[in-house]
Amino acid sequence: MACEQGVNVATAMDNGVLDAVLAQVRPLLGQGKVADYIPALASVSGNKLGIAISTVQGEHFYAGDAHERFSIQSISKVLSLVVAMNHYAEEEIWQRVGKDPSGQPFNSLLQLEIEQGKPRNPFINAGALVVCDMLQSRLSAPRQRMLEIVRKLSGVHDIAYDSAVARSEFDHSARNAAIAWLMKSFGNFHNDVSTVLQNYFHYCALKMSCVELAQTFLFLAQGGHAAHISSPIVTPMQARQVNALMATSGMYQNAGEFAWRVGLPAKSGVGGGIVAIVPHEMAIAVWSPELDEAGNSLAGVAVLEALTQQLGRSVY
Ligand code: DON
Repeated sequence: MACEQGVNVATAMDNGVLDAVLAQVRPLLGQGKVADYIPALASVSGNKLGIAISTVQGEHFYAGDAHERFSIQSISKVLSLVVAMNHYAEEEIWQRVGKDPSGQPFNSLLQLEIEQGKPRNPFINAGALVVCDMLQSRLSAPRQRMLEIVRKLSGVHDIAYDSAVARSEFDHSARNAAIAWLMKSFGNFHNDVSTVLQNYFHYCALKMSCVELAQTFLFLAQGGHAAHISSPIVTPMQARQVNALMATSGMYQNAGEFAWRVGLPAKSGVGGGIVAIVPHEMAIAVWSPELDEAGNSLAGVAVLEALTQQLGRSVY
């Protein structure tokens, strides 16, 4: 949805807007902190900055470290929800997980106890773990299925899990395991905890670049349809619903601040990636590994803020 002052994207790109935005934001590098609670992520250089855009017209634009792969982490939560939407009726999903922002850190247990094991939304860890539990119940090979979907959507056949990152997270999984066991105590988790945690950590450990992410998520800007795939990924209504959840819960306790500064549905990951959607127009992926206190890429948010201002884009 372009706002009245929106400028033509191709013209802006010809005028070097992506390089200009990265140059504007680069001084912020050094102000955030690379995630270190997953030891395998701590060694990533904080000095990276990349952006890629895929448009519904089939154009691709990129700048900076746009081709370098990184750990997509919580960005995968959008994809696991999409797979669940393919295998479950609407009411089956939403009786087990809510649709509201949590206002809490992504790995908090606080509301879960008070709200009897029903996570606020599918993008906090608790909600994503319930979704992974659902996938384990209905899919014979959930990890393989996710790889197939991501490879199909991106058109890139060597996208894979970083098993060192998945193992590192499994070795430090006390908090996510506690979340899963607490939900089990309320009857909202049906499968073996460690099997589902392994699937979840693998999804988070997908390694993708900004270019691959922008192409993968373009279907959410196109009413659930990926141009190179004949059958729809999700219905137009489901695409709208996923975008709404990203807008309200994709950036955790900073969702309001992000709506204020950027004004787009988006999902972040502690690997420093953020995917943002301009409905009916484009998908944008940014990457910079240093995070703010909410676990969102500090420079990544600033890049999206500068870009949306330059292009005159917002859903609000
Ligand atoms: O479960 C975790 O803590 C990580 N695998 C994912 C967290 C994450 O990416 C939160 N995003 N900003």
